[in-house]
Formats: sequence, C-alpha cells, structure tokens
Amino acid sequence: MSGESIKFQNISLVYGSDTNTTEVLKGIDFSINENEIVSVVGPSGSGKTSIIMLAAGLEKSTSGSIFIHNQDITGLTESELSLIRRRHIGIVFQSFYLIPNLTAKENVMLSLEANKKYNMDDEAESLLENFGLGHRLDHLPSELSGGEQQRVAIARSLINKPTIILADEPTGNLDEENSQHMIDLLFNYTRGNKTSLVLVTHDGDIAKQCDRIIEIRDGKIA
Ligand SMILES: Nc1ncnc2c1ncn2[C@@H]1O[C@H](COP(=O)(O)OP(=O)(O)OP(=O)(O)O)[C@@H](O)[C@H]1O
Ligand SMILES: [Mg+2]
Repeated sequence: MSGESIKFQNISLVYGSDTNTTEVLKGIDFSINENEIVSVVGPSGSGKTSIIMLAAGLEKSTSGSIFIHNQDITGLTESELSLIRRRHIGIVFQSFYLIPNLTAKENVMLSLEANKKYNMDDEAESLLENFGLGHRLDHLPSELSGGEQQRVAIARSLINKPTIILADEPTGNLDEENSQHMIDLLFNYTRGNKTSLVLVTHDGDIAKQCDRIIEIRDGKIA
C-alpha cells in the first residue's frame, strides 16, 4: 500500500485582477500516489505549468486545497513552503532557470543546503555523467546547447533526492533519441526511489509510457 504524495482538492486559479482576469483552472481534483508516474497533457495555455507551480507552492490557488504527503500546504508561509520544497520536491522548469554565472556542476549543487555541499561533489559529477555531461562539468550555461542545459536542469532536480519530481516539458529541446534517454533516466530514478513523477509533455509517445495521463481542457480534467 502506498500513500498519496500530491492531492489537489477543488483547485481554482484565476490570474490577474479586477477587469483583466484569466480563469485558468476551474475546480480541479486529482491525487498522485507515491511511486506513480503521471503525465499532464493539454493544449498550450491550458494550465499545465500552473499546476506544476501550484504543486511546488510557487503559485497560490484562488480556492481549494493542495496536500503534499498529506500536509495541507495552502496556508503555509514562504519559509515553510521552501522547507517542503527542499525536503520533497525536485523541479525541472520549462525554461530551465539555470544560473548564468554558475557552471553546470555548480548549478546542480545549487539547491543543496550549505552544510551538505562538502560531500556532494561526487554525487553531482556522477549525476551529470549519467546525463552524458561528464565533459561539461565546468561549462557555463552559455557554453552549453539547449539540450545540454535541459539535462543540467534535470540533474539539478534530482540532487536532493526528492520524493516528488515535477518536470515541465523536460524533453522539449531534445531530439527523439535523447528524449527517450532522459525519460528512461527519470523513470529509473522514480521507480528506484519510491518517487512520484509529474511529467508535463506534448509528446504522446512519452505520455503513453506513464502510469496515467491527466488531460487538462477548458480549465477542467477531461
Ligand atoms: N502570471 C500570469 N499572469 C496572468 N496570466 C498568466 C500568468 N501565468 C500564466 N498565465 C495564463 O494562464 C494560462 C495558463 O498558462 P500555463 O503556463 O499554465 O499554460 P501551459 O498549459 O503550461 O501552456 P504551454 O503548453 O504553452 O506551456 C495561459 O493562458 C497564460 O497566458
Ligand atoms: Mg507550460
């Protein structure tokens, strides 16, 4: 038996204020089990990234509740949320968000707590080697291709051994062969570490490999 790692309860999200509002999510309910791989699909602008940001506590819902490992995160302070992120969540952002003046390896080690950094060089290097970037450890993001930057971003999401990985189009810049390789690495990590993976993708072949597909359409789950 395994518990739920993420639960959305009647989540609505409206962006903007007063006259200029966008109602993105209109009452969404779902839960994701520990060790489950779920893809989130839907048209551009349907709210997939918004769901990732909400689950990470980086965006606040307009109404409804979100639970991470059964803890309601809806009313938490920024510092409480950041603790939950550090403990549980690895995020691969759609636009990578690599820090431009840090090397590939430094970017991977960025989210480690200061006191952990001493012993984690080997871990960061072996993650990057696994991702085919052993020869790029000391390169800056500007010296990496788009696909290489994406692989650094994926490696970074795993360094804290998250229980939940939120990956927003993690293969969007990769060719088919590299995409599949990244998916295999993410799936292997997930299966081997009792981790949940939420994978936003436009790629139907990748979505089909997941345990379940959540489709967002017109602000609801289709
Ligand atoms: N900060 C914001 N303020 C206002 N509107 C926003 C904001 N962020 C997103 N939106 C709007 O909310 C909708 C959903 O955006 P979101 O980024 O979640 O879509 P998406 O499904 O990830 O799309 P894509 O597939 O293109 O990445 C879009 O119409 C977008 O314009
Ligand atoms: Mg998006």
